[in-house]
Amino acid sequence: MCNNTYCVSRTNSTFDFLFQFMMQVPLALWILSAVVCVGRSHHHIGHGEEAQGPAGDGSDNKMSLVTSANKEFAFRLYTKLADHASSKGKNIFFSPVSISTALAALMVGARGETHQQLLRGMGFSSSQLAQTDVDQAFRTLLANKASHEDLSQGTAVFMNNSFKANPEFLDVLKQSYSAEGFNVDFANTTESADTINQYVSGKTNGKIDKLVKSLDPRTVMYLLSYIYYKGKWETPFNPRYTFEGRFRVDKSNEVQVQMMNMQDDVNTYDDQAINTKVLHLPFNNSYSMLLLLPDDMAVLERNISPAHVTKWLKWTKSETYKIFVPKFSIKTSYELNDVLTGMGMADMFGDRANLSGIADCLFVSKVVHQATLDVDEAGATAAAATGIEMTLYSYIEYPELWFNRPFMVIITERVPENILFIGKIVNPNL
Ligand SMILES: *[C@@H]1O[C@H](CO)[C@@H](O)[C@H](O)[C@H]1NC(C)=O
Ligand SMILES: *[C@@H]1O[C@H](CO)[C@@H](O)[C@H](O)[C@H]1NC(C)=O
Ligand SMILES: *[C@@H]1O[C@H](CO)[C@@H](O)[C@H](O)[C@H]1NC(C)=O
Ligand SMILES: *[C@@H]1O[C@H](CO)[C@@H](O)[C@H](O)[C@H]1NC(C)=O
Repeated sequence: MCNNTYCVSRTNSTFDFLFQFMMQVPLALWILSAVVCVGRSHHHIGHGEEAQGPAGDGSDNKMSLVTSANKEFAFRLYTKLADHASSKGKNIFFSPVSISTALAALMVGARGETHQQLLRGMGFSSSQLAQTDVDQAFRTLLANKASHEDLSQGTAVFMNNSFKANPEFLDVLKQSYSAEGFNVDFANTTESADTINQYVSGKTNGKIDKLVKSLDPRTVMYLLSYIYYKGKWETPFNPRYTFEGRFRVDKSNEVQVQMMNMQDDVNTYDDQAINTKVLHLPFNNSYSMLLLLPDDMAVLERNISPAHVTKWLKWTKSETYKIFVPKFSIKTSYELNDVLTGMGMADMFGDRANLSGIADCLFVSKVVHQATLDVDEAGATAAAATGIEMTLYSYIEYPELWFNRPFMVIITERVPENILFIGKIVNPNL
């Protein structure tokens, strides 16, 4: 049993906020991949083994508390990422649901203040939602999504061979977070990183192929979530009309892009309150992309909220337009330690971490996220993965020095050096 006050972190994990974008061209067009689950969230999961309480047992209400907290979390996280100095002039793209899922799964094993911070940080009110409610909600959200061709979502846990995680934790992850579990030898960092990367690459159809860039050899557990979505436009663009066009990056810079276009009945909305034009491009009855073109990006970013998304999905009206949308592929990569700390979830990273529901002396050394988005005439493909690396605290082993046998002693003046006394102690008792 380990008491955290004696557990001293020896990791020198970079708490730096690292933005590494592979594509540097900023998109002034603000893109939100809105995953809209219509009529799905209000059904109980259909395995027949769940106690489906009588109507009014509050489970639908708890489900909606979780989904609305997840939406709020998406925009709070967006604001943090957009505010960060190193993101200025860079694309931003991430999957809030992948990050929420990974954090909620981690939260299963968090206790005490670490658990409270995760609950609050993700916007789950502890007076209304217990961990089991959160688990149940994610179970519903993730149900039957593990292996769809066009949409897959799930989690996985990689554990060091010699590491014993609490079986109850692993059981909840398996039952509620569609988790698959694997044993690896983290001491072999190259091999274990490859194993994780291959797994994520397989789940994202090769889109996220290097989630783990480097691993701490002291890693004992790696918890990850992935999401992959591929949608075909309900009305595709005709590739023959795509032309080389210009995209205005800012006042003084333009870049060349492949500009897709069509003239058709499309769903648009002019949100005059925030001077933003909204284009709603559906994939099918359940999934859509919203493209938001503001007069002033800062005004949109400052004001956008989940309520806007709800409103836009409802209020866009079909009208004939000529629309022009660039064809592009972007990749993003984030290290989220600082952002999550800034959102109040600090303890999990430090020597105050209480993840005793997974194992004693465990803390989070790194949270990483990567995402990709490809948009072309046929549709869009988006993928993302979140990785949570965990290591064990170790006792610091201070070197010891025992004068328990004969030794010499010198008493000296230092400036100028002047030996005042010198001697040898063979028996301090004589
Ligand atoms: C973790 O939290 C639990 C529940 O609050 C508490 O009993 C336990 O002592 C804590 N462990 C550490 C190491 O702080
Ligand atoms: C919409 O598309 C998704 C992903 O391609 C698919 O899983 C889902 O069944 C489709 N829904 C409908 C209503 O067609
Ligand atoms: C790590 O694993 C790889 C692949 O299995 C192997 O070739 C290599 O020798 C291992 N390295 C160590 C230090 O065990
Ligand atoms: C991970 O397991 C290996 C044995 O496969 C062991 O040698 C190593 O010490 C373990 N690492 C940690 C951090 O416990």
